[in-house]
Amino acid sequence: EKGTYPHYMLKEIDEQPLVMRKIVQNYQDENGALEVDSDIVKAMNNADRIYIIAAGTSYHAGLVGKQFIEKLAEIPVEVHISSEFGYNMPLLSQKPLFVFISQSGETADSRQVLVQVKEMGHKALTITNVAGSTLSREADYTLLLHAGPEIAVASTKAYTAQLAVLAILADVTAKSRGINAEFDLVQELGIVANAMEVLCDAKEDFESIAREYLAVTRNCFFIGRGIDFYVGLEGALKLKEISYIQAEGFAGGELKHGTIALIEEGTPVIAIATQDFVNLSIRGNVKEVAARGANPCIISMEGLEMDGDRFVIPEVNSLLTPLISVIPMQLISYYAALHRDCDVDKPRNLAKSVTVE
Ligand code: F6R
Repeated sequence: EKGTYPHYMLKEIDEQPLVMRKIVQNYQDENGALEVDSDIVKAMNNADRIYIIAAGTSYHAGLVGKQFIEKLAEIPVEVHISSEFGYNMPLLSQKPLFVFISQSGETADSRQVLVQVKEMGHKALTITNVAGSTLSREADYTLLLHAGPEIAVASTKAYTAQLAVLAILADVTAKSRGINAEFDLVQELGIVANAMEVLCDAKEDFESIAREYLAVTRNCFFIGRGIDFYVGLEGALKLKEISYIQAEGFAGGELKHGTIALIEEGTPVIAIATQDFVNLSIRGNVKEVAARGANPCIISMEGLEMDGDRFVIPEVNSLLTPLISVIPMQLISYYAALHRDCDVDKPRNLAKSVTVE
């Protein structure tokens, strides 16, 4: 039930700190160390390459998950859109492991790929919010999100839950391979949960950003580099689906190769800057669009902030920033939809789970 909340989406955004803590608890052993079913860790270690298959928001989580697995566990990862993969299969490695990411566990596009790769004799892991869902039943292994039911069509807490579970999977796999993590993930996810709380308490700031930048605009760009780019893709999808504003997520450096032609006087460009090593380059990209009349809105992170940034998120581990930088995206989209009188929980043309191809 949504209780005192006007919309499920807002309730689910607010649940994220709690979900983080629940996920950590669910994946801790009696000594407090993170653990994942040993068969799954074995399957990860047996693989020479991991193929993540997903759609929509879950695909965006997969893009970040690739960073987690490659950086922590040092296993190569490819991320594919499920509706493309079936008929456009890349040349597979010798020992692939397929990882399906699906909140509902019912997405037909993903299921079709699962059936296909099982027929080919490959192993599959499903990361889902729904125990007993089709993708869970038909895969060899399942990891649950423990996010609680997600009712709003726009996915929010499932995305951050997917990232947390992917980080845990990567971390536990890394340890099993003798790779020493530079951080204690339990502690880092605790810091993430606290940071999420700070952001959920800053709703007025996001409401005012939405009013200032998005109340009347026709379109909007989200830019970032590296994992900030992937969060930008998710920000654009959130904004499109609930506010019907044409939005596009772009790699900061790629905009100038054509798309910058769309920048007009007042076009909102939301820039995400949470990564030290590209902080100056993304800010250079902001200057490029500002010089062409764009109305930039920079969301940066403590320690990297500069004069004129519109919002500064609390500092978290640099690999885990998508878990919190996405919350401004969710809340800005939510308030933009309200300002434009859209049906937040049930956007037009959409269903919660897409069971047709
Ligand atoms: C976006 C959204 C969709 C889903 C996509 C995959 O907010 O909800 O893009 O993420 O349809 O759904 P699942 O994760 O259930 O496979």
